[in-house]
Amino acid sequence: MSDQLKTQLMLTDKLPHHIAIIMDGNGRWAQRQGKHRVMGHKAGVNRVREAVKVASELKIQSLTLFAFSSENWQRPADEVSLLMELFFTVLSREVNKLNRNNVRLKIIGDLSRFSEKLQNKIAKAEDKTSKNTGLMLNVAANYGGRWDITQSCIALAKKVELGEISADDITEDAINEHICTAHLPPLDLMIRTGGDCRISNFLLWQSAYAELHFSQTLWPDFDEQELCNILADFAHIERRFGCTSEQLTTPLKE
Ligand code: IPE
Ligand code: IPE
Ligand code: MG
Repeated sequence: MSDQLKTQLMLTDKLPHHIAIIMDGNGRWAQRQGKHRVMGHKAGVNRVREAVKVASELKIQSLTLFAFSSENWQRPADEVSLLMELFFTVLSREVNKLNRNNVRLKIIGDLSRFSEKLQNKIAKAEDKTSKNTGLMLNVAANYGGRWDITQSCIALAKKVELGEISADDITEDAINEHICTAHLPPLDLMIRTGGDCRISNFLLWQSAYAELHFSQTLWPDFDEQELCNILADFAHIERRFGCTSEQLTTPLKE
């Protein structure tokens, strides 16, 4: 069972440092049971708690969860407002527990579109956990990968405008330093639940060399065992980053 697997995983040095999850399938999970879609989002919160617990126990450095995309505003107004309410309630309810567990919480995305009340709640939650040294938990809300790359480029363009840097200083490293995940280790593994094989505008820049795992499981059914199985598979992947297999095992000569 997963306890045994978890113990084995704790001993390997091949775990990802940074995992991202597209938590998809809440609506279908609820609809299949004849319930309102929002019941799926509520059920999904329990799985968020479970994923955070596993990541903390395995001493994964960073976990980034896709909670609400920049495109999700297009959903029916009642679903959007229920999602906002749920976000607010969960933040209020969970922040002390996250803090006790040494988790550092950050919300990434364009927060300006959220209500002032929600923005204040986010700022307080981030502030409360900012000194924690355990898992870095990032919740992507009103996040879009294209927005992230764009806002990084705008920040750099402003520096050029002010004469602080020149256009030639806009390197990949510079863009990297201005994207939302600049403070995190590189993304190693991206998981999507819910059966669809697409990235839906999540971490586009960051996923360039991430391993991708698509699961058929709907998010409210995605349990600790499945996450541990995916991590065990990840530990066996040869990550070549453009090199050959031989180069990875034989040190390069000077
Ligand atoms: C993901 O589940 C959660 C959000 C996008 C907020 P969905 O709500 O997309 O669930 P499905 O894909 O319709 O089943
Ligand atoms: C992606 O799921 C966004 C989140 C999980 C928050 P969607 O359900 O919005 O993605 P699409 O619309 O199927 O691509
Ligand atoms: Mg979906």
